[in-house]
Amino acid sequence: MPEDSPLIQSLRTAVAAAPADVPLRLHLAELLLTEGQAEAAVTEAAVALQHAPGDAQARQLMARAMGMPQQPSPVAPSPEIPAASQPAPAAQRPGFDWQAAEEQVGDVVPPRFVEEPGTPTRADGQDDPGDAEAWDVERPEALRLADVGGMQEVKDRLEAAFLAPLRNPELQRLYGKSLRGGLLLYGPPGCGKTFIARAVAGELGASFLSVSVSDVLDMWTGNSERNMHEIFQTARRQAPCVVFLDELDALGAKRSRTLHGGLRNTVNQLLTELDGIDSGANDGVFVLAATNVPWDVDNALRRPGRLDRTLLVLPPDAPAREAILRYHLRDRPIESIDLGKLAKATDGLSGADLAHVCEAAAERALLDSARTGTVRMIGMKDLLAAAKEVLPSSEPWFASARNVAMFANEGGMYDDLIAYLKKRRKL
Ligand SMILES: Nc1ncnc2c1ncn2[C@@H]1O[C@H](COP(=O)(O)OP(=O)(O)O)[C@@H](O)[C@H]1O
Ligand SMILES: [Mg+2]
Repeated sequence: MPEDSPLIQSLRTAVAAAPADVPLRLHLAELLLTEGQAEAAVTEAAVALQHAPGDAQARQLMARAMGMPQQPSPVAPSPEIPAASQPAPAAQRPGFDWQAAEEQVGDVVPPRFVEEPGTPTRADGQDDPGDAEAWDVERPEALRLADVGGMQEVKDRLEAAFLAPLRNPELQRLYGKSLRGGLLLYGPPGCGKTFIARAVAGELGASFLSVSVSDVLDMWTGNSERNMHEIFQTARRQAPCVVFLDELDALGAKRSRTLHGGLRNTVNQLLTELDGIDSGANDGVFVLAATNVPWDVDNALRRPGRLDRTLLVLPPDAPAREAILRYHLRDRPIESIDLGKLAKATDGLSGADLAHVCEAAAERALLDSARTGTVRMIGMKDLLAAAKEVLPSSEPWFASARNVAMFANEGGMYDDLIAYLKKRRKL
């Protein structure tokens, strides 16, 4: 492999920092090509095409990088045509007529999804991080529960247990103290706990402060107590704010981390903060927590008034899978994808598994394009083949959960889980 020139090296760094910046990536690809690194140029052009399907410049570069005969470019205005007969050029880039390019590809790009008109699409869940705080605070107002595909039971429970009372001060007064405490989301990894927590913050019009408990412990050994306090102080300043404690089990007394000296103190600090919410010291601070291993969560944290309510987040149901697949295919060059059919073929897969399916399908189409020298779209057969290869990553989770549900269902905590296991004939 040839050594990258310093310019290419810094371009690579820039591209890594802004992976969705298509012109930047194409610039890198162009440079790679001039330096004789055709294969690397193909790779970059292919990624650019994933971000901007149909981008004329990307396609053209791909063709050149693959050493295909230079087709008379359909978009670059040829010198013979008198300028007057060309459509008015857009100003962005000298020598490149974006408007003409768009008109061209407008006809070329095939329908992306097979669907009825008017199907709503999912909003993008990415948000700008907040600034000037020690902890990153997001404002996920764009993300709502409606963006969480399917999972109606989870939404209903959230609405009844958390959202309706918070939205309605009358109800709050009526029920008074019974509303204290937070909610613990649990379930197999990659099935939407974090996503749902963020959507809850969006529903409440609240900021979102997400902390991984194991980070709090690992990064500041000895300082975890203070950090725990600072997290809640930040949330109070940013109220209304949802504090999301991910990997709550990292504080669990049942793990080997118990040997970690400061652990007990950190748990106590968290208890103090949680109880502070009860005293009204932090109005507008809502606590959600998540764990893949609820059986490792410290019991003290689960007492009434603390994280006393649990919500099981299972692998996505069919409508959820459809939403997730749609999201992961949003920027890829796809053709005639029947999402309903694909959702049926991916039962049991988690959100993360589904992302993987889309990735693998793109890879298949890409390899194929590179092999045949003709750029082709990602089709149903790529996705179905990928779906067959990806194994449900939550199986091992269910294997452990099954034992706990059977032998340690204290206080009926795992009733929901048992019902699901029975329904799926896993128990
Ligand atoms: N019901 C859903 N609707 C839309 N996207 C979902 C849904 N469930 C999960 N996802 C997607 O799956 C990915 C993994 O979910 P995540 O919240 O990180 O899982 P967890 O926190 O449970 O490990 C997220 O990026 C999210 O985009
Ligand atoms: Mg998560």
